[in-house]
Amino acid sequence: GVARAGVREVRPARERGKLVQECGRALTEHAEELGRLVALETGKALRTESRVEANVTSDNFTFFGGLGSELKGETVPYNPNMMTTTVRQPMGVVGAIIPWNVPLMLMAMKVAPALVAGNTVVVKSAEEAPLAALRVCQILQDVLPPGVFNILSGFGPDCGGPLVEHPDVRKVSFTGSVETGRIIARKAGEKLIPATLELGGKSPMIVMGDADLDKAVDGAMGGMRFTRQGQSCSASSRIYVHESLHDAFVQKLTDKVNALKMGDPMDEETDIGTIISREQYEKVQGYIEKGEQAGAKAHVCSALPTDPKLGDGLYVRPVVFTDIAADAAPAKEEIFGPVACIFRFSDYESVIEAANDSEFGLAATVWTTDLKTALDATHRLEAGFVQVNQNLVVQPNLSYGGMKSSGVGREATLESMLEHFTEKKTIIFNMA
Ligand code: NAI
Ligand code: MG
Repeated sequence: GVARAGVREVRPARERGKLVQECGRALTEHAEELGRLVALETGKALRTESRVEANVTSDNFTFFGGLGSELKGETVPYNPNMMTTTVRQPMGVVGAIIPWNVPLMLMAMKVAPALVAGNTVVVKSAEEAPLAALRVCQILQDVLPPGVFNILSGFGPDCGGPLVEHPDVRKVSFTGSVETGRIIARKAGEKLIPATLELGGKSPMIVMGDADLDKAVDGAMGGMRFTRQGQSCSASSRIYVHESLHDAFVQKLTDKVNALKMGDPMDEETDIGTIISREQYEKVQGYIEKGEQAGAKAHVCSALPTDPKLGDGLYVRPVVFTDIAADAAPAKEEIFGPVACIFRFSDYESVIEAANDSEFGLAATVWTTDLKTALDATHRLEAGFVQVNQNLVVQPNLSYGGMKSSGVGREATLESMLEHFTEKKTIIFNMA
């Protein structure tokens, strides 16, 4: 059963933190096994993606485990005869619903802070990738008290739905599509419980004429997550390149993507594995067709694996679209596949406008050697995570989350733990 301790029964905050750090150690010991499980069930290449994910997962537990003693309140100068203070209390049972693209890391970003804050958690894993998440929960049963970290495997509406509706669940944290995010937000609204939502994106990357071309090309390689088949909510899938660099940028980028090796996800030589499911495969292929129908030029990169054993694999050759209309479906909608759109621009003001002309607002990058442009762009780009001359992924201690339809709330920091996994209470002692 799910543990539901009263606030005076939960362990002291630092003890909880130590247990969560202990979780980090246990997961480090199992990192290779977990990386292999992720590769097996998601098709993400072991060397470039799945092993990396397993290591980042344990790092999240280690980071949040160190924050137990930061669950502080305030004293308020309300009245000299009174002692007025605030405390941060656990919310109770947290429902955490996770997707399949980075299942362990995204689960850790919810479970670790929720536990340190004194809550218990019920995770609902994604139907496409339940195994590694289950294994993490199993490993951590040896570290955590019974009923503290629980997991359900099942489909969205039948399993995630009832979790959100359950009267004991007092908080929901969700990562996934905008469509499902809205359903969850509506249910949470009906129950009047808070919901943290990390949703999709269509993140812009702006390469100014004075940018370091090679660095920008490398930034697009990482930002598009080609090695993850583009299955990333913060993928830099709208790339705006100044006309003076456009053709050279396209050439260098497609050369680099061409050099990536598609193959067996378990093979150490492989850079790019397979798409998660037949449904996603068809969705991605559909967008590639729509781009071609809209008259865009498709630069189809990398060779399909030749090994006949891999003939049934859901391999999609990465596509870089150029000369694509801004209102074509692949240029506007989240594809969640290895498809990037490159747009040519000449004028700074209009590129900022184009970058912001999106329902999404998760991440953005700007590439320039001019400080004034960098400063101006970082202030004006409508996104929760904005970088200059680099394209790093989310990591502990860097606040992460979306503006506009990309989400509500932030993850990955001390503040996110306090704001999203605790309830603030004001306590006043009258000693007059
Ligand atoms: P989804 O949003 O439907 O699934 C994410 C999680 O929500 C899964 O655990 C799923 O079982 C659960 N879920 C689905 N319907 C639910 C409901 N009614 N109540 C409660 N839980 C529910 O995403 P899906 O269908 O896997 O992918 C569709 C698209 O969503 C992708 O093509 C991509 O564009 C986007 N996506 C975005 C992600 C992100 O990291 N922001 C992750 C996965 C998908
Ligand atoms: Mg769905």
